[in-house]
Amino acid sequence: MSTTETEAAAAGPAADEPTGVRLRDVRKTFSRRRRPGRPALDGVTLDVRPGEFLCLLGPSGCGKSTLLNILAGFTAADSGEVLVGGRPVTGPGHDRGVLFQTPNLFPWLTTWQNVLYGPKARGALTPRVREEAERLLETVGLADARDAYPHELSGGMRHRAAFARVLVNRPGVLLMDEPFGALDAITRAAMQRFLLELWQRHRTTIVFVTHDVEEAALLGDRVCVLSAPPGGTKDVIDIELPRPRAYEDTETLAFVNAKRRIREVLER
Ligand SMILES: Nc1ncnc2c1ncn2[C@@H]1O[C@H](COP(=O)(O)OP(=O)(O)OP(=O)(O)O)[C@@H](O)[C@H]1O
Ligand SMILES: [Mg+2]
Repeated sequence: MSTTETEAAAAGPAADEPTGVRLRDVRKTFSRRRRPGRPALDGVTLDVRPGEFLCLLGPSGCGKSTLLNILAGFTAADSGEVLVGGRPVTGPGHDRGVLFQTPNLFPWLTTWQNVLYGPKARGALTPRVREEAERLLETVGLADARDAYPHELSGGMRHRAAFARVLVNRPGVLLMDEPFGALDAITRAAMQRFLLELWQRHRTTIVFVTHDVEEAALLGDRVCVLSAPPGGTKDVIDIELPRPRAYEDTETLAFVNAKRRIREVLER
């Protein structure tokens, strides 16, 4: 076993096979008072490779959350192809882990109970899952907070608990909608570092929505820029910065150049 594999094994449950995502000409218009409104998504075409970290960037209202909700199975597209792991998305499923800006922990459950909630609800709470949950709590640095309730945790700790709750389901793809948008700058940097380390170990496919150019350049293998509302794929930019990446990389010239390329696409 290589060092990386040993680390991955010690870190807890690797996600099952990372999953690819395929979107072809995805369109969505929400109706307002039973009348069709303006399109929210006007033809999004995109492939996310298995194990890839893809950032979705675009101006407010261009349909980023709508696209993520379609992938999560919370909203249905009007037309187009939406495949996750080669299968059409027909509704929510634990093969896709979803993380929002607010970590929606159940306030009446402890960290440990929150993490085990999904497997328990599905009748899949085996001793192996419990062991994995233990390891995951170590990974996210919450072993000591296992019996704490959400209101007893800091913002960053709640996010990490929400991560553990999603990862225990071994999702093939993580869908994240501005997960760190509401955090203060120091906690956000800590969470970005944490996410990079986690992804480096597990290589789960990630679709990460942000409107922060710096965050997109730091995290993404590629950045998909959506056009101004209604959103369509404007361009996809390769971020050719070496991995593993660290927060300190934001000070390099290569990083500044990557940000400039993203901005150019955003502004054109
Ligand atoms: N449930 C809904 N019902 C009606 N209209 C909706 C609904 N959800 C989103 N929309 C509309 O779809 C468009 C895209 O919204 P969406 O939330 O996907 O944008 P976004 O890119 O995530 O924006 P932001 O960066 O501000 O989060 C907007 O015009 C919004 O008003
Ligand atoms: Mg949004």
